[in-house]
Amino acid sequence: MAGFVGEAVLSGLIQKLIDMVTSPELWNFASEEHVHSELNKWKKILTKIYAVLHDAEEKHMTDPLVKMWLDELGDLAYDVEDILDSFATEALRRNLMAETLPSGTQPSTSKLRSLIPSCCTSFTPNSIKFNAEMWSKFKKITAGLQEISAQKNDLHLTENIAGKRSTKTREILPTTSLVDESRVYGRETDKAAIANLLLRDDPCTDEVCVIPVVGMAGIGKTTLAQLAFNDDEVKAHFDLRVWVYVSDDFDVLKITKTILQSVSPNTHDVNDRNLLQMTLREDLSGKKFLLILDDVWNENLDSWDFLCMPMRSGAPGSKLIVTTRNEGVVSITRTLPAYRLQELAYEDCLSVFTQQALRKSNFDGHSHLKEVGEEIVRKCKGMPLAAKALGGMLRNQVSLDAWENILIGKIWDLPKDKCRIIPALKLSYHHLPSHLKQCFAYCSIFPKGYEFDKDELIQLWMAEGFLQQTK
Ligand SMILES: Nc1ncnc2c1ncn2[C@@H]1O[C@H](COP(=O)(O)OP(=O)(O)OP(=O)(O)O)[C@@H](O)[C@H]1O
Ligand SMILES: [Mg+2]
Repeated sequence: MAGFVGEAVLSGLIQKLIDMVTSPELWNFASEEHVHSELNKWKKILTKIYAVLHDAEEKHMTDPLVKMWLDELGDLAYDVEDILDSFATEALRRNLMAETLPSGTQPSTSKLRSLIPSCCTSFTPNSIKFNAEMWSKFKKITAGLQEISAQKNDLHLTENIAGKRSTKTREILPTTSLVDESRVYGRETDKAAIANLLLRDDPCTDEVCVIPVVGMAGIGKTTLAQLAFNDDEVKAHFDLRVWVYVSDDFDVLKITKTILQSVSPNTHDVNDRNLLQMTLREDLSGKKFLLILDDVWNENLDSWDFLCMPMRSGAPGSKLIVTTRNEGVVSITRTLPAYRLQELAYEDCLSVFTQQALRKSNFDGHSHLKEVGEEIVRKCKGMPLAAKALGGMLRNQVSLDAWENILIGKIWDLPKDKCRIIPALKLSYHHLPSHLKQCFAYCSIFPKGYEFDKDELIQLWMAEGFLQQTK
């Protein structure tokens, strides 16, 4: 279990342990004072460890000490889980028996005794008493947790809010509004649709009209926004156009500052929140503006409202495009229906691929590569990011062998600095809540191409205790 779930999903396990250690059932069951005090220690240490796990998960690939620390933490976490699981099972079993037995009847102690670990030998019907062996196991875990917690300080791991990644480890370059349109294939209909949404008058009375452009990683949201931003009719329609690359660092002040600097390049560096908002409101006042916020992950309504506040002074018809992979973002931006971007048509995807690989939009002059090339493009399933990355890997390579290797190869084996696919997907993985990371990683036990059954998978997740059963 520890092997395949690995470091990457430890946070899910630690979160689960924190929930377990604070559950009232466990506290009633293990009711002795000194046990409670020990469980309290576990809770505090686990919570502190949880706070740095995000950072550790990011650093473990490059720092062997962090990797070792995570390995040790993993082993200890599974020991904690074993003990807590056996308690939880026994507590549940006793409750069930108490419900089914006629009142006044005591459950058979000998039967129960066989169901819990041999270390817990003496107990009363509703609570458990600790023998020396069990108690020493408990103390050993406490000591282990304390040691792991102390080591954490030496590793200089920083506390992190889940879902918020440190900018240091970001593997994706910021986008800009510039695009080479001659290298963009297809998307004519999408561009026309977005331009139409930008040019028409919408009844967004006291709010800025927001158009969320939603789609999977690398499907072409940013590219479409760039096309719209640089469209001649769009340019002529707006007094001001501003592009801001946001990504997962939704720093409202930083974004507001960037907008202000684009709108009024001569503004002095303003750092005060109030002054910033007032200045931006004034500078946007009465102007019809187009703002593109590229790659938004923020789902916090307060931050969103704070950012939008100064924009209300803009002229009617001002528009905001938000590109995002995240449905949660759509629900907080709330004004116009989302534009859901679909995969590229096969022919366009093929042109993206050959443009990268052969510097032309088809296989002319390279007929020996056509068949395998088409097969690679079919595997890309209309995702321009995949077509571009795989095409890029084959640039200047005209031997059939190299192309066949890409066809049978694994994308995760491709070098990260040359192929953007894994860094792009990793960002989506990082944004999963920790319990979903566990569920997702669990699927790696299926062989490649295995068709799994949804209900069966859910049952397997349940058996592993991955699902949070609030209801
Ligand atoms: N129609 C297209 N023609 C050619 N290249 C394209 C097209 N659409 C996207 N690309 C290229 O594919 C890559 C991914 O596109 P893009 O960055 O627009 O995707 P995205 O949906 O914004 O991804 P993310 O979710 O990571 O922000 C980029 O390198 C882009 O240049
Ligand atoms: Mg993008």
